Amino acid sequence: MQRILFVEDNEVLRQLYGMMLPKSSGLWETALAADGETALTLMEQQSFDVVVTDFNMPGINGVELVHRVRKLYPAMSRIIISGIGNQKQIAEALGETHQFIPKPFDVKTLKATLSRIHALNDYLSDDKLRALVGRMGAMPSFPAVYLEIMKLMNMPTSNISDVAELIAQDPSMSAKMLQVVNSAAIGLPQAVHSPFEAVQQLGMNTVRSLALSAHVFEKFEKRPAKNFSAKALWEHLMATALLARKIMELEGGSEADIEDAYTAGMLHDIGKLMLADNLPAEFQKAMQLANGQKIPQHVAEQEIFSANHAGIAAYLMGLWGLSAPIVEAVALHHTPEKTELLEPSPLMAVHVANALAMTKPNGKIPEITKPLNLEYLEKIGMVDRLDTWKQLAAMPPIQRNFD
Ligand SMILES: [Fe+2]
Ligand SMILES: [Fe+2]
Repeated sequence: MQRILFVEDNEVLRQLYGMMLPKSSGLWETALAADGETALTLMEQQSFDVVVTDFNMPGINGVELVHRVRKLYPAMSRIIISGIGNQKQIAEALGETHQFIPKPFDVKTLKATLSRIHALNDYLSDDKLRALVGRMGAMPSFPAVYLEIMKLMNMPTSNISDVAELIAQDPSMSAKMLQVVNSAAIGLPQAVHSPFEAVQQLGMNTVRSLALSAHVFEKFEKRPAKNFSAKALWEHLMATALLARKIMELEGGSEADIEDAYTAGMLHDIGKLMLADNLPAEFQKAMQLANGQKIPQHVAEQEIFSANHAGIAAYLMGLWGLSAPIVEAVALHHTPEKTELLEPSPLMAVHVANALAMTKPNGKIPEITKPLNLEYLEKIGMVDRLDTWKQLAAMPPIQRNFD
């Protein structure tokens, strides 16, 4: 049973929230507060798993409330409900909240978010995962350039040149962006030489997602681990991101789902970099174990570290305040059966894209890793789509007429 506290100053809405999640389901128990002060007093008296708060409220606003809750009760999940007009302030609060729900929202969205958070909390609060994070020292900081891009994107007057100018001020970001846009996976007919052209070709949403992974890679590429190719990983992440987005698009995902699938695809294996960088000797052991016993890498990691790269990456994404669908897709990309959500989602797209992005040139998925979970696809009613997705994966990028 999840204990949820709704904080909403509008009485009609507050009553509505109170009715959305009936206690009779046995899944939820809800409490209501009309403002931030009342909410904090209630939290002193009883424990809650989740706080769902309005953004605009007299007194303590939603962002301030989640900020305080994070300090006082770090284990409590934080959701902000907000109209589109407050995107800028919300962007600034990234890291403080677990999820934003845009107003107006329906019961289905709320329930899906709560289910995800419920499953993820259990997963991310695993003691062994926490112990491993503890051994890894400092986690990469939230990339400031991501926030800057978000702010620009939310300003009605900003355009591609503004975003390109911002990227140009960051030499390592510019380099990464040009590397991405000129890679074979994108398959542009002509080489791109400037951040402006790169942003134009990739689109602002993609650039924003790239800023997240480029930030982690930047730190790592200066200290390469032996027997581990960061370049190969980067290529795999890009291929997964592109394919995950195509799959989500094809399956009629919402715009948010499509962007989340891309971002999660881009980040799903970042945990490997973090392990290779922080605990190189043990990571080597895990790679040897995987190769020697022909078992998947994440299973070998589990044996060596009692946790794996998916958990580490999801932990970081949670810390950064990325949305629940992204954290879920990253956390469960090898174990999608652990989700409570039985419909096409960014998790499905990343799980499938990860497997197909590893497909050998002959179209066969390597037998030993068995990365596709067919039972899961069957359970969400999508197993029939596999052949179509395989064709999508096999589609060659446009041939370039240079180099
Ligand atoms: Fe992975
Ligand atoms: Fe992967």
